[in-house]
Amino acid sequence: AEQGWPGLHRIPHPPHRLPLLGDVLGADRRRPVQDSMRFARELGPIFRRRAFGKEFVFVWGARLAADLADESRFAKHVGLGVANLRPVAGDGLFTAYNDEPNWQLAHDVLAPGFAREAMEGYHGMMLAVAGRLTDHWDRELAAGRTVDVPGDMTRLTLETIARTGFGHDFGSFERDRPHPFVTAMVGTLTYAQRLNSVPGPLAPLLLRAAARRNAADMAYLDRTVDDLVAARRRSGGGEGDLLDRMLATAHPETGEKLSAQNVRKQVITFLVAGHETTSGALSFALHYLARHPGIAARARAEVDRVWGDAPRPGYDQVAKLRYVRRVLDESLRLWPTAPAFAREARQDTVLAGEHPMRRGAWALVLTPMLHREPEVWGEDADGFDPDRFTAAAVRARPPHTFKPFGTGARACIGRQFALHEATLVLGLLLRRYELHADPGYRLTVTERLTLMPEGLRLRLERRPRLT
Ligand code: HEM
Repeated sequence: AEQGWPGLHRIPHPPHRLPLLGDVLGADRRRPVQDSMRFARELGPIFRRRAFGKEFVFVWGARLAADLADESRFAKHVGLGVANLRPVAGDGLFTAYNDEPNWQLAHDVLAPGFAREAMEGYHGMMLAVAGRLTDHWDRELAAGRTVDVPGDMTRLTLETIARTGFGHDFGSFERDRPHPFVTAMVGTLTYAQRLNSVPGPLAPLLLRAAARRNAADMAYLDRTVDDLVAARRRSGGGEGDLLDRMLATAHPETGEKLSAQNVRKQVITFLVAGHETTSGALSFALHYLARHPGIAARARAEVDRVWGDAPRPGYDQVAKLRYVRRVLDESLRLWPTAPAFAREARQDTVLAGEHPMRRGAWALVLTPMLHREPEVWGEDADGFDPDRFTAAAVRARPPHTFKPFGTGARACIGRQFALHEATLVLGLLLRRYELHADPGYRLTVTERLTLMPEGLRLRLERRPRLT
């Protein structure tokens, strides 16, 4: 019953527990992360929730989370939501077990695809996709309509990863409704999340209809990816993008290549991981910019100063938008769009000198609460303030207190990609439009493993042309 935590009984849990269902009743099953945030505030820096006879340990205290970042004693744990994605993403980079040989192989083969040189190559394509977004927004504006922020950010980020990674065009901006790939992806993510809220043995019964839909969604994802790979094999190679690396690059030391089955899983992994979270991050940032006109004005002034009226800002001009980047960091602080990651003990150890853990015992780091830990971020931690990310403020904070991209060897491989894309797009949008919030909108966050503001629409106003 202690599940690898000999001191489990000392870890606080919600007061009302039911024999079989544990802490599940009364919980918001559609919003498990926000539900856990509520418990975190009541129960403190480490707590547990029980579901169907199993205990899940959550950690968000700064000292505890920093200890879990010690790679010599802890590693990624493939559990809960991530494990539920194994049928979709198999031994792809995100869902691979630490000791699966395909993880190291794929990591070594694909990491150069995110090095500076490769990133510079993506920049022009990112600009082109952003141009399709602003064309679309110009049309909406001319028609007197508000814009669908999460929908359009998803169009943008899907097209960006598809084009830069795979030379593929989903035509998202030419469609009124999301591309079927997006619908199937959202379906599989939502299903993976729901699996956590039903007892394992009963899942086939309770989720029969949902399981059938999930099987159809997975088949659609596979088919889309198989077509995309077949087209590339026929055309005989792109310009050294991610797909070329997956198909053709041999490991520098062993000469080994990814198998066809593994390539399929990697393509799905990158198409999904490469757009869903960035879309959410951009959407939250636009929400906060629209809500804080003073912050938006300061960001816009920076863009005008650094970019002037250059029609196509260069690669190096993106990293110079320091304040815009701080807006993005602050949005990822409050709503890290991949809101948790799991860590397991590599051997018997004691967490932060207090909580004994046996080898294999694991905990979830609840990032949105780590990012609001009052001892680190102050009593106003729920407020939006990009100046928390000035260089001096960052230096003054303890390490491992800002973790939107996870930690260690299994941290996000696409971090620079996401930050470059999102900073570029925010810069372009700030330069072109004034953003007006709907005064009646209250931020509601939907969950499908990832976080996304729900129903966010903004009214735009075209800024006077600079030239
Ligand atoms: C892993 C967050 C964008 C590809 C991760 C992890 C986090 C994360 C927290 C670690 C998960 C864990 O420990 O279980 C984010 C956020 C993003 C973002 C917040 C955007 C704001 C991207 C992009 C790509 C990408 C753009 C690809 C182009 C991956 C992959 C992994 C990963 C492949 C698994 C890495 C490994 O285990 O070797 N991401 N990510 N992500 N991410 Fe991202």
